[in-house]
Amino acid sequence: MKVQISQTNLTEFSADTLIVNLFDDVKTPSGATGAVDKALDGAISELIANGDATGKAGEVRVLYPRGALPYQRVLVAGLGKRAGFDLLGVRNAAAHAIQAAQQYKAQHVATIVHGAGVGGLDVAAATQATVEGTLLGDHVYEKQLQKPQERHEIEQLTLVESDEQKIAAMEQGTTAAHAVVAGVKLARDLVFGPPNIVTPEHMANVAQQIADEFGLAITIGDRDFMREHKMGALLAVAQAAGFDPRFIVLEHNADKKDLPTIALVGKGITFDTGGLSLKSRDGMILMKCDMGGAAAVMGAMRTVAELDLPLHVVGIMPCTENTVDALGYRPSDIITASNGKTIEIISTDAEGRMALADALVYAQRYDPDVVIDLATLTGAAVTALGSGVAAALFSNDDDLRDRLTSAGNATHERVWPMPLYDEYRKTIESPVADMINSGGAGNGVGTAAVFLEAFTDYTWAHLDIAGMALTNKKHAQAYQKHDATGFGVRLLTAYLQGINA
Ligand code: BES
Ligand code: MN
Ligand code: ZN
Repeated sequence: MKVQISQTNLTEFSADTLIVNLFDDVKTPSGATGAVDKALDGAISELIANGDATGKAGEVRVLYPRGALPYQRVLVAGLGKRAGFDLLGVRNAAAHAIQAAQQYKAQHVATIVHGAGVGGLDVAAATQATVEGTLLGDHVYEKQLQKPQERHEIEQLTLVESDEQKIAAMEQGTTAAHAVVAGVKLARDLVFGPPNIVTPEHMANVAQQIADEFGLAITIGDRDFMREHKMGALLAVAQAAGFDPRFIVLEHNADKKDLPTIALVGKGITFDTGGLSLKSRDGMILMKCDMGGAAAVMGAMRTVAELDLPLHVVGIMPCTENTVDALGYRPSDIITASNGKTIEIISTDAEGRMALADALVYAQRYDPDVVIDLATLTGAAVTALGSGVAAALFSNDDDLRDRLTSAGNATHERVWPMPLYDEYRKTIESPVADMINSGGAGNGVGTAAVFLEAFTDYTWAHLDIAGMALTNKKHAQAYQKHDATGFGVRLLTAYLQGINA
């Protein structure tokens, strides 16, 4: 779907479908919807009066102007209550509307920007949310069938606005939305892609494409690279892998070291069987999502590159499977990570922290101002906060914690602060090594976090996104029709944009 902006009067523009909106409990529509109502001789007011339209969030009503306006149909999207209306409401309204337009097999959709008029939201932000909601609401996972499903494609979306003063901000919002949506879509498709296709090598190929397209510096390390860098912890996991592991680094503004340096580190376990500490049959089913952290970093790097953010951003993705092999690592093994710390293996299923340990050590070489890791790390994070609700946030820095929390609230990719208490550190003490790799499921989310902390010597935050990578169908947003969320891309982008704000 192409997106354009047209500075025209709504009643003069022409397309097959027009989207306007309505707040809950409005008797007489005003603004753009009011103008359309007038042109339709009060048809929207009539829908409201007889209860056929209420403006409730999620509602989409259709009207046929029959020549009274240069559109075949008008869709009236409910915005819900005006009080508390925000960008989440905008994204959802846009998503519901485009899904209706899709069912009507619309080709060219004209829309107003939701929330920027009567709603009173910032024009650039409302535009970004309208475009994000539209494009993400129209994004589903493409099934791999012998006969590919025919899916109707809407060709064009035009944002129509008569006020010249708003156009520049709308252009800014549209540009941002394009970059963000491409990153989110990339992450979603990687997360939900099958583990025999989304292998570490595939991840490396995707990174290479991004590097080629946007001129990023790239490093793709194989097993030898990992040996050279003494990445014993990552290699231990990779020891049982069928598909070869890859250590992937993408770098934006590699030559501008005076810019603030932010490293993003993502867990890239392309499939997690648990290894010898084998998962149950059911526990393994969704473990293709275990590279959700790396997917978020990949998507964010693409977005950052397209937006050309004035930051030095390094994306580090340790990618390997965690499968089963006679030569795989085993419980009781003692492994030496790249910073020399020794790890007694309790569970080969606590593999994510092993892969991340060496990646976090590697991040040090960039002398980063901030390092953020994202990982589908523990089932305990899901138990603590629920699935599809919020990621668990751990940080050694109050300011970073606050910034990530704000970015999470602004994007509705929420994070909730958790403690790094000493008790967790005691829980992973080993009688035979510097630490053990698992404190047991009970203390799970905190012990995993303090394990990672042992490999950091910088300002750091850890996001346990185990509950967030896949869409929770029970309470998914309208712009989350895809089976994977792409969680982290919008959050990280908002956080990074905020650094220079
Ligand atoms: N990849 C899993 C965590 C996970 C669980 C992700 C559910 C997504 C949904 C991770 O590698 C794992 O197996 N964690 C163990 C840790 C335990 C062995 C300490 C867990 O949570 O049970
Ligand atoms: Mn595991
Ligand atoms: Zn895992």
